[in-house]
Amino acid sequence: MLSIAEKDLGTPKRESAQLVTLTIDGQEVTVPAGTSVMRAAALSDVKIPKLCATEQLEAFGSCRLCLVQIEGMKGLPASCTTPVAPGMKVTTQNKQLADIRRGVMELYISDHPLDCLTCPANGHCELQDMAGVVGLREVRYGYEGANHLTVEKDTSNPYFTFDASKCIVCSRCVRACDEQQGTFALTIQNRGFESTVSASQNVSFMDSECVSCGACVQACPTATLSEKSLIEKGQAEHSITTTCAYCGVGCSFRAEMKGEEVVRMVPNMDGHANHGHSCVKGRFAIGYATHSDRIVKPMIRSKITDPWREVSWEEAIGYAASELKRIQAKYGRDSIGGITSSRCTNEETYVVQKLVRAGFGNNNVDTCARVCHSPTGYGLKNTLGESAGTQNFDSVMKSDVIFVIGANPTDGHPVFASQMKRRLRQGAKLIVADPRRIDLVRTPHIEAEQHLKLRPGTNVALINSLAHVVVAEGLVKEDFVRARCEMPSFEKWRNFVAQERNSPEAMEAVTGVPAADVRAAARLYATGGNGAIYYGLGVTEHSQGSTMVMGIANLAMATGNVGREGVGVNPLRGQNNVQGSCDMGSFPHEFPGYRHVSDDSVRALFEDAWGMKLLGEPGLRIPNMFEAALDGEFKGLYIEGEDIAQSDPNTQHVTAALTSMECIIVQDLFLNESAKFAHVFLPGSSFLEKDGTFTNAERRISRVRKVMKPKSGYADWEITQLLSNAVGYAMNYRHPSEIMDEIARLTPTFTGVSFDRIDELGSIQWPCNAEHPEGTPTMHIGEFVRGKGKFLVTEYVPTSEKVNARYPLILTTGRILSQYNVGAQTRRTENNAWHDEDRLEIHPQDAEDRGIAEGDWVGIESRAGDTVLRARVTERVQPGVVYTTFHFPESGANVITTDNSDWATNCPEYKVTAVQAVRVSQPSEWQKRFREFSETQETLLKSADVMFVDK
Ligand code: SF4
Ligand code: SF4
Ligand code: SF4
Ligand code: FES
Repeated sequence: MLSIAEKDLGTPKRESAQLVTLTIDGQEVTVPAGTSVMRAAALSDVKIPKLCATEQLEAFGSCRLCLVQIEGMKGLPASCTTPVAPGMKVTTQNKQLADIRRGVMELYISDHPLDCLTCPANGHCELQDMAGVVGLREVRYGYEGANHLTVEKDTSNPYFTFDASKCIVCSRCVRACDEQQGTFALTIQNRGFESTVSASQNVSFMDSECVSCGACVQACPTATLSEKSLIEKGQAEHSITTTCAYCGVGCSFRAEMKGEEVVRMVPNMDGHANHGHSCVKGRFAIGYATHSDRIVKPMIRSKITDPWREVSWEEAIGYAASELKRIQAKYGRDSIGGITSSRCTNEETYVVQKLVRAGFGNNNVDTCARVCHSPTGYGLKNTLGESAGTQNFDSVMKSDVIFVIGANPTDGHPVFASQMKRRLRQGAKLIVADPRRIDLVRTPHIEAEQHLKLRPGTNVALINSLAHVVVAEGLVKEDFVRARCEMPSFEKWRNFVAQERNSPEAMEAVTGVPAADVRAAARLYATGGNGAIYYGLGVTEHSQGSTMVMGIANLAMATGNVGREGVGVNPLRGQNNVQGSCDMGSFPHEFPGYRHVSDDSVRALFEDAWGMKLLGEPGLRIPNMFEAALDGEFKGLYIEGEDIAQSDPNTQHVTAALTSMECIIVQDLFLNESAKFAHVFLPGSSFLEKDGTFTNAERRISRVRKVMKPKSGYADWEITQLLSNAVGYAMNYRHPSEIMDEIARLTPTFTGVSFDRIDELGSIQWPCNAEHPEGTPTMHIGEFVRGKGKFLVTEYVPTSEKVNARYPLILTTGRILSQYNVGAQTRRTENNAWHDEDRLEIHPQDAEDRGIAEGDWVGIESRAGDTVLRARVTERVQPGVVYTTFHFPESGANVITTDNSDWATNCPEYKVTAVQAVRVSQPSEWQKRFREFSETQETLLKSADVMFVDK
C-alpha cells in the first residue's frame, strides 16, 4: 500500500546508454531503452491506471487495467509489460480504453467488501483510487454471487493482518516476497475465481517461512495486508524521513506520524542503502521507544544497594560532575573515563570523546566497537590505508563471486542479504566460510558452490591456505599487484603463503575443511570475475581477528579484487553506527578521522579548536578500564548507550569491576544491566527523539531526524553537553548540525559533510571533501588510500582457548533476525514472538552422547563460568561445536566467554570458548545470583517511584 509521500512510476528504472524517443498522448518523451511505456508515461506526468504494477517489482501484466493503444500494434497491450520503442505512438486515453478499464474495475469491485469508510486503507487504497480514476459508477454484476467476502482474517503475525476478503489477487505481495525479500513464502494457489494468496502451504503467516519483512504489506494495493498499527491508529498526517537505529545496513524510513505518535515506519524508496526495503526490526520493532519500562526522569543514589531517588536534571548533572571531580581529586586524572556506543549518533559520540579528552583531561574513552569491529579498523588501515569497507551495497549487483566469511547476512544484515540474494539468483556464485550452516548456504533458488565449514578459531589457517592456492597455482593478478602494491611486502607475503605448511592439504587437519573444497573456492574467487568479500564478527571476534582482516585484504589485493565496483573488502557492521563511532574518535588512541593522539600536528589542531591542552598518550581501552578498576585505580565511568554488563565477555569479571567503582553514570533508555551497578541514571532519548547522523557499513552518512520531543526533555548530545559544562569544560552547541560542522572542520575525510549537504544529496559516503564533493561510493580506485597496498604476513597462531577432556566442545555465538544485540530494544517489542529465549544449538551426535534431547536444560561450563540454556538439537552446527545467541541477559552467554582477545585490539574472542555441556535440571549458580540481584534492583527502582514513560 502506498503511503502519503511517494510517487510510484509503475515499473523499475532501467539503466541504458541508449535513449529512446516516443510519443505519448502527443507528447514527446525520451527515456533509457528497456523502460516500460507505463514508466515513460509516468515520467512525463501522464497517469495510466494500474493495479498489479508497482515501481519496486518487475511488471507482471495481470490486471489489464493499464492497457493502451499503440499505433501499428495489434490489440491493446499492457503498458507495464510493453517496453518503449523508437518512434512509438501511444494513446493512453480514449473511449475504448475507458470502457475496458471500467469493465475490469467492475469485476474487481463486485467481489470486494464495500466498507471503504471504515477500511484502514481508506484514503490510500489503490483499488479505491482506480475506481475513481476509471469513473466506476455501477457494478452490473451485483454482490450476491459467489464471492470471498466471508473469508477469515489471518491475524497471526504480530504486526500485520491478512484479510483475504479484500484480496484482488494481483500477486504484488507474492512478487515482493520473491523479488524484493527473496524468501518465497507466498504463492497464489488455485486458478481463476478460486485463486487465493497463501502463505507457504496454506498455513498462517506466523507458521510459514515469512520473516515479517513487510515488503508484501507495502506492495499490497488494498487493505488485504495492513499494518496493525495503521488499523489501530488510523491514517498518518505527516511523515519525516529518518534512518533505522538497528543494524549497520542503515535503512532509510519515513516515519508516518499522527502528531507525536508514529503510525508506521515505511522504508523509503529513495533510501540509498535499502531502496524501499526493510526487515522486521526497522519496520515494526519500534515499540520499545514508548515502552513502559522507559525511565524519563534522572535518578541518583550513593550506593547500589540504595533505592534510586528521582531528582531534577540540575541535581543529577551536578551530582555526577561533583563525583567525577571528587574521584579525580582523590585518585588522579586517569581514574575516570567514558564509554560511548555504536547506537549513538555521530554527533553524540563526538561530544562524548570530546568531553573525555577535553573535560576529563585524559584519553580514557572507548566504544563498543572495541568488542566487534576494532580489528577491521586495524587490519584495513594497515593494508589498504583506510579503516572502512571499500564499496557501497549496490556494488554487489556487479559481483560475480560473493565470498561471505564469518557473517550471517540474512539474520544480521537482512536488507543487504536480500540484495545479495537477488544477485545470487541472477547467477553470481557464492562461497560461504562459516562453522555453522547459515541460511544463505541453501535458501530458495540459491545454493553455495562451497560451504567451507571450518572449525571455530581457524580463520587465519583457512585464509592462508586459500592464498596458498592463489600463489601456487599462478592465480595472482600480477599486473594489479605490480602497479598498485608494495612489491617487497608482496614478495614477503608470497614466500610465506607459498610454504607447504600453508597448503590446504597441510591445513586440513587444522581447519577441518577438505583441501579440495579450499582449492575449488580459491580458484573460483580468483578467476570467477568480480570477487567481493563480505565478512562479519566471525572474522573479527577472535584472538587473531586483526590478522584475519589483514589476510582478507591480502587475498583481495593479490587477486586484483579491490578498487572498482563489484569487488572489495566489506565488513558488515553489526550495529547502526559502528562505522561512525569509530570515525568519530571514540577509541582511546585516535582523534576523529583515525589520527593517533601522539601525532603532534593533529593534537595541535584539536588543542587549538578545543582551547585545551590534550594528552598525547592513548588512554584505557574497555578491558583495561576493568583491570584498572579491579586494581583500585579506575573509579568513575560515564556510559552512554552501551550495556557492558551484558555485552562484554566474562560477565563476572565485568560486574566485579563495575562493583568496585565509586561512580557509574549510565545514560540510557532503560535500567539496563550496567545501570543496575550505577549511581547516576540519566534518561536518554531514542532515535525518534533527536537529530543527528548515523554512518552505515558503506561509510554512508544519513540523517536521523527528530519526529517527537525527547521524552526526558533532552536529546543525548544535550545531556553530554550539560555534563561537560558541569565538570568545567564549556560546550555550547545549539543543534547537532553545529557539532557536524565542527567534525567537518577538523576531519579531512568529512570536510564536505554538513546537514544541509546530506539533505541535498540524501546521504553521503565519506570521504567527502574537495576531491570528492559528492562522497565516495568505491574506495581505492586507481590508488590505495595509503598509496601502495601493503601485504602483511599472517602467521596462523592457534588460540590458547583449547578444547580438552574437561571442555571438549567449542561454543561460538551469533545473532538472530528478530532480536538485536543485547536485546534491550527488541525484547521490548512483539519480536519476542519469534525468539523469546536464547537456546544452545547442539549437533545430534553430541546431544545423543550426553543424553540431551530437544528442549532439555543444558548446563554449559567454560573456564570462565557456567550457565544453563535449553537445547536445540540441529545439524546446522557441526559435531564438536555448539552455538548460541546472546540477546537475553539471563542467558548468561557472556558468563562463559573468556578474557581472551585479539592481539592487536583486545577485541574479545567471543567466537571460541571451550565448554562442556551436560543435561541439568536447574539454573546455574550465576543465574540464581543474577535473578536475585535483578529482582533487588527492580525493587530499588520501583520503591523510588520514578517516572516511567506514559505513567
Ligand atoms: S512479510 Fe516479507 S517474508 Fe513475510 S510474506 Fe511478506 S514479503 Fe514475504
Ligand atoms: S494480498 Fe494484496 S498484494 Fe497480495 S494479491 Fe492480494 S491484493 Fe494483491
Ligand atoms: S536491515 Fe538493518 S537497518 Fe535495515 S531495517 Fe533491518 S535492522 Fe534496520
Ligand atoms: S498494471 Fe499493467 S497489467 Fe496490471
